[in-house]
Amino acid sequence: MQIPKFAFHKLLVLLVSSQYFRQASTAPLQLPNKVCQKAGVAILGAGVAGITTAQALSNASLTDFVILEYLPRVGGRVAHTDFGRKPDGSPYLVELGANWVQGLGTPPGPENPIWTLAKKYQLANTYSDYDSIETFNETGAVDFTGLLDEYEDAFTTFGQDAGYILTDNLQDRTARSGLSLAGWKPEKDPAAQAAEWWSYDFEYANPPEQASHEFTAINYVGEDFQYAA
Ligand SMILES: *[C@@H]1O[C@H](CO)[C@@H](O)[C@H](O)[C@H]1NC(C)=O
Ligand SMILES: *[C@@H]1O[C@H](CO)[C@@H](O)[C@H](O)[C@H]1NC(C)=O
Repeated sequence: MQIPKFAFHKLLVLLVSSQYFRQASTAPLQLPNKVCQKAGVAILGAGVAGITTAQALSNASLTDFVILEYLPRVGGRVAHTDFGRKPDGSPYLVELGANWVQGLGTPPGPENPIWTLAKKYQLANTYSDYDSIETFNETGAVDFTGLLDEYEDAFTTFGQDAGYILTDNLQDRTARSGLSLAGWKPEKDPAAQAAEWWSYDFEYANPPEQASHEFTAINYVGEDFQYAA
């Protein structure tokens, strides 16, 4: 794959070496030399998956790895920012993501480790009840559930098509193309676009134009069933 020059430059901003994991966890990131080094394992991204992978390797005494991350911080989609001012002048702390603890785990299966962490740090959270939603357009309350069902039907076909892509070794395509081929065509209908935004963009944190058909389906199956409540 051809990596654009600017992306490569950013990639080199943070090369977290395995050395970091041998230091106290509070130590600031030590940037090693800014040249590519040889490593047994390259971990792409210092989000939860990347950091956990590095921890698992480190636990197993495998320390010949590098984590490649283009942001100057670890955490991936887990991030927060200051927002506005409280009456006392200090800023509010706003979470930017991640959005959900998706499934808590059902005994006798394992508990979702993210849920274990959420409880440990007493993270405030609200149960998302997808059977109880209200939808509005510019005139007031309007029932979009028919559109949401239409999207769901197309998404079922989309999932089956993703299976054929995998088993028949076919060329992957954008999720937009996959949805369109599955009969979901929301263009020119703002209500359908809103239904799609709720069902897709809000769920996957990017629009279908920017995502793979195959990996949307893999993401869906992975996140919804591993710790499904
Ligand atoms: C690594 O070991 C620590 C200490 O035993 C444990 O808490 C952690 O869950 C382990 N990490 C992984 C990814 O297995
Ligand atoms: C909003 O809902 C009203 C009532 O159902 C409908 O008349 C109107 O056309 C809708 N607006 C759009 C942009 O679909």
